Amino acid sequence: MAKSAPQKDAKTQETMTLKDNRNGKSYELPILEGTMGPDVVDIRKLYAEADVFTFDPSFTATGSCKSRITFIDGEKGQLLHRGYSIEELAEKSNFMEVCHALLYGDLPNEKEYEEFVHNITYHTMVHEQVNFFYRGFRRDAHPMAIMCGVVAALSAFYHDSLDIWDPEQREISAHRLIAKMPTLAAMTYKYSIGQPFMYPRNDLSFAENFLYMCFAVPAEPYKVNPVLADAMDKILILHADHEQNASTSTVRMAGSSQANPFACIAAGIACLWGPAHGGANQAVLEMLDEIGHKDNIPEFLERAKDKDDPFRLMGFGHRVYKNFDPRAAVLKKSCDAVLKDLGVKDDRLELAMELERIALEDPYFVERKLFPNVDFYSGIILKAMGFPVEMFTVLFAVSRTVGWISQWKEMIEEPSLRIGRPRQLYDGAAPRKYVPISKRK
Ligand code: SDX
Repeated sequence: MAKSAPQKDAKTQETMTLKDNRNGKSYELPILEGTMGPDVVDIRKLYAEADVFTFDPSFTATGSCKSRITFIDGEKGQLLHRGYSIEELAEKSNFMEVCHALLYGDLPNEKEYEEFVHNITYHTMVHEQVNFFYRGFRRDAHPMAIMCGVVAALSAFYHDSLDIWDPEQREISAHRLIAKMPTLAAMTYKYSIGQPFMYPRNDLSFAENFLYMCFAVPAEPYKVNPVLADAMDKILILHADHEQNASTSTVRMAGSSQANPFACIAAGIACLWGPAHGGANQAVLEMLDEIGHKDNIPEFLERAKDKDDPFRLMGFGHRVYKNFDPRAAVLKKSCDAVLKDLGVKDDRLELAMELERIALEDPYFVERKLFPNVDFYSGIILKAMGFPVEMFTVLFAVSRTVGWISQWKEMIEEPSLRIGRPRQLYDGAAPRKYVPISKRK
């Protein structure tokens, strides 16, 4: 298990002094150091001592927790899971190994790997009653709407594993969620195209099984294309976890109220759906279709710069990466391999590469360090695999579930778990008396 950096004792503790010029008082705030990345100023006692809150509405400068799972250096374009670089994991590992590392702290040895894969494999089926939830949705319901519903509903089936304080129940819930997300996602896709659900197969790998459940039909045998299975496994690795992003923070907040893990993951799915977050991969394809031809790129770049125009260059920019997103670099390579192997010529790939080339020469994007992020190329691969754009964020959720549940588990195992409860700067009405309606203007 990776250890967190030892904290200094009170004598050697470094501090930051905060001086309140309104009354001349000073406050010594402890500085905590991690293994890597910026130190943090511990403000937990500030309100009690100085009667002030800090103010950071979108948490651009706020550390919400201590974590040992993922490290990102936005300046260097570095992403580590339990210390392993995303580039090495994408090239040398597989999604089941990465799941084990995220969940338990390290890559598994052979025995641990075999046991983990067996546990996940034997939890891939869902209760037959789950099928009936799908019947309540229209066939053209957005797949993310269905996933929010059916994943939260899983908590109705597992009364034996909702005690979040029991380590064994936490573990089986984590296995069930990791294992069942691809099954539910495939069912969501099948439901949208009017085809029968395909049951999981225990003789296939995680990625192969997912592709099988999506694209096989009962009428004939189906052989999973190994190139697609490899690309899918890579996509699952690249989307698995990403520090305290919006959906992970949502899962942690829900978990801090001691809600059950299925409800917490459903909350994460809802947050991921937003086009500013996981919904961007769908929005990238829609944007490329709207641009249509490389001759139209300059017009759309001008729109992206226009503050009065809501158009944004989807798949560009990132709250943390102020350099390239290492995941986009890996996906760009996979794009070429998948399209070549499939013999697919998707004009959108050329258009995307031309858009990237022109944008990265444009001062507006360079000054604001707006580089392609993970969502810029993923959609092109998924489209080539045969997925409709509406399924792209569902696939993101299938992968990110292991990150969400690993972060949730880490939080629950913290001895100091308390409900998350941010405060505010109130600038509303001062106290005033009730006025009867007859006397209101
Ligand atoms: C993901 O957090 C994570 O880790 C998320 C994620 C994960 O794995 O969990 O990495 C997955 O969500 C990736 C991001 C996918 N979203 C998109 O591709 C949507 C398009 N990107 C933007 O909406 C935006 O870049 C965000 C939301 C990603 C980041 O927004 P920030 O950090 O709040 O940045 P900002 O909006 O303050 O932008 C800074 C400047 C602004 O201009 P100025 O006010 O300085 O003049 O850059 C501009 C913005 O207008 N800008 C863009 C832009 N992104 C930012 N201008 C045009 N096109 C864009 N895409």
